[in-house]
Amino acid sequence: MSEGRPPTTILGFETSCDETACAVVRHDAGGTRVLGNAIATQVDLHEGYGGVVPEIAGRAHVERLIPVLRRALRDAGADAPKIDAVAVGHRPGLIGSLLVGVAAAKAAAFALGVPIIGVDHVHAHLVAGLLDAEADPVFPALGLVVSGGHTAMYRMASDIDVERIASTRDDALGEAYDKAATILGLAYPGGPKLDALAQEQGADDRAFDLPVSRLEKGSLDFSFSGLKTAVLYEVNGVPHRPGAPERPPVPPMTDARRRDLAASFQRAACRAIVLKITRALEQALDREQPYRSLLVGGGVTANSRLRRELQDVAAEHDLELRLPAMGFCLDNAAMIAGLGGRLLADGDADDLTLRAHPSSAL
Ligand code: KG4
Ligand code: ZN
Repeated sequence: MSEGRPPTTILGFETSCDETACAVVRHDAGGTRVLGNAIATQVDLHEGYGGVVPEIAGRAHVERLIPVLRRALRDAGADAPKIDAVAVGHRPGLIGSLLVGVAAAKAAAFALGVPIIGVDHVHAHLVAGLLDAEADPVFPALGLVVSGGHTAMYRMASDIDVERIASTRDDALGEAYDKAATILGLAYPGGPKLDALAQEQGADDRAFDLPVSRLEKGSLDFSFSGLKTAVLYEVNGVPHRPGAPERPPVPPMTDARRRDLAASFQRAACRAIVLKITRALEQALDREQPYRSLLVGGGVTANSRLRRELQDVAAEHDLELRLPAMGFCLDNAAMIAGLGGRLLADGDADDLTLRAHPSSAL
């Protein structure tokens, strides 16, 4: 925490995957205020391939970064305070994409003569719910990241003291959403499209009894590959094994069936998340180290049902929930600059030897 320290203005860069983003935030003991926040999405470039093509992503970051930087600085306004430090998401992500942001951030830090701070993208998702908030939550907090690349829980002694307590054994939740959406014939990016379909009028979330993974007794880890495969079997049928009895063919796909499958998938996916949150809360209570707050982040926190269920679970357990505003759920540079400000206040800065890494340090 930064009590007693002067406010700082941080310029943030985010290029880890397929969003090119820059932001300016003001950080002080009261929290983090977003002054300018610009994003150029690359969905149009990758749509035809059904997923992110790393070479295309890296090249597009190079082309889009300067216009996005100009936009963020313009949004912050001519009277914005001068930049005190530069923060960059330098891990995890596609290496060719990360390198673009890291090179740009180094150039900016050098030109401005200010420190550079390397920020872990997953950690930044965890504190995205603290952007533009009145005050910080009470710690210890249970942290949850649900994105396209990561699904994990953390014990957070503070905003920067974070220990991973669970992760997915196979697919990340966003990845499972995207794959289930592809199986259902929805266009890329599938997660938000599946969410929209599940919310359509008439969608029955109990039409299919899809598996909610629990894993071993007491395990906090996640697993979503079984759920994804169950959707595949409902659409294409269960593969026939020699000697096994013939199964009746699956009914033909209709709009109603697709809608019901989407809603049933969404129900099972959210139940799995809430189940593991509840387990983590109970285990902490048993150890007499209860969590006081719930901090969540990552692209899937934009999901309509998950947002509702997180609010319910937080209310039930008397936790302060920090759910990012919709604009801060998906990849953005405000969360990078926000965490950069927090790290700097804690005396943590890097230098121009900062390197990009494909994996998270959390
Ligand atoms: O955090 P993010 O922007 O990128 C990573 O760091 O991975 O998350 C992207 C993921 C994608 O898998 C996308 O399909 C998913 O978030 N997503 C959603 C929704 N909006 C984005 N999944 C379910 N429902 C949504 N509304
Ligand atoms: Zn992300």
